[in-house]
Amino acid sequence: MTHLHEPDLWAASIDAPVADLELWGLDPRVTHLNHGSFGAVPRTVSHAQDTWRQRIEANPNRFIRYELSGHLRGVREVLGEFFAVEPDQLALLPNATYGVTSVLESLTPCPEGTVVVIGHIYPSVRVALDAFALRNHLQTINVAVPAGMATEDLEHALLTVLDARTKLVMVDQVESLSGATHPLPVLANVCRAAKIPLLVDGAHAPGPIPRPMEGLYDFWVGNLHKWVGAPRGSAVLWVGQEWQQRVRPAVYSHARHDSFSESFEWTGTFDASAWLAIPSALTFCAELGGQQLWERNRQLATAWRRDIQQWVGAKDDAVPAATFPMIGLPARSGLAKSQDHLSRIVRHISDKHRIEVVAYWHEEAPWLRLSSHAYNSRGDVGRLIAALDAADTKAVT
Ligand SMILES: Cc1ncc(COP(=O)(O)O)c(C=O)c1O
Repeated sequence: MTHLHEPDLWAASIDAPVADLELWGLDPRVTHLNHGSFGAVPRTVSHAQDTWRQRIEANPNRFIRYELSGHLRGVREVLGEFFAVEPDQLALLPNATYGVTSVLESLTPCPEGTVVVIGHIYPSVRVALDAFALRNHLQTINVAVPAGMATEDLEHALLTVLDARTKLVMVDQVESLSGATHPLPVLANVCRAAKIPLLVDGAHAPGPIPRPMEGLYDFWVGNLHKWVGAPRGSAVLWVGQEWQQRVRPAVYSHARHDSFSESFEWTGTFDASAWLAIPSALTFCAELGGQQLWERNRQLATAWRRDIQQWVGAKDDAVPAATFPMIGLPARSGLAKSQDHLSRIVRHISDKHRIEVVAYWHEEAPWLRLSSHAYNSRGDVGRLIAALDAADTKAVT
């Protein structure tokens, strides 16, 4: 039987995994360094989802018609406690992009204004933003956030671009490629003072960031199918009190005149078993150690950063601490000569070395993104480096 290691034994350990891959059903022959993209569903959570499915199938009419909304209210109550917010300010969704699209579709800005984007936003969210901007004749203004930018400098850069034409500010709580985090309460206060709504894409935040909506006033969306380990199709939208009556789902259904939460949660005929299994995913996270686990994973990401920097041969040996259990950083510049070449190399190490990792082309150079979870340890990055240096990988053209 697989097991979870004793919390007091593993609290500071990054040299060994603190939980077995088997708890997630992950292939033990593989080095898994990409929890961040698609998550991984723990076996106990899959089991909970199967049990809900069986309950639904035992009497679909009764369950969906009379019982489902009560169970979903229960899920929202559990989530309200987890995030320390009012359950009525939450709505369950299939994914983060759906939440962002819904918020954008609910706004009716006067044409000829601007939308300000802070840092890098996720490609699918950019598609939604571009469509929104095009339809409303809005101009998009990007505020660049170089690594290590001081909070006062970011605040100043934001203030410089906000004016009476600004309709919305958007920011990622955790940037998907770099793992960089932004000082949300400060940004929220700037927007509040300027009377401009702030939409926060917190797709990665649930789990590693406790109380991710703290200090916010307007809109926040997060995925539960990444770090929390809920089944795919589990996300949540939080909307500040002032906007509750105005935000409606991108896809309408029966409940369009009902409460904010219900307008999102009753989307025609739908398999809600993923959402119903969310509480079991939160229990699993708590059993793994809750914030203690995320802190350990963040420390592991910092150690990996040091190992990769040594491999790259970077001269500066001051390694900044990871602010999240996921980091993006430059690989050796000679690793690949183009995005396509890099993609072939990453596919090769999946095929031949059984290592799953994200690599991307940034500033004309190859970068790696590594995600650290309970089943990872320091040695995983050594395996990655060995695979990238192997003769067969170097032969990939
Ligand atoms: C910052 C950010 N936003 C949005 C998304 C999209 O999430 P989903 O595919 O659940 O819509 C991701 C996915 O990784 C992300 O990192």
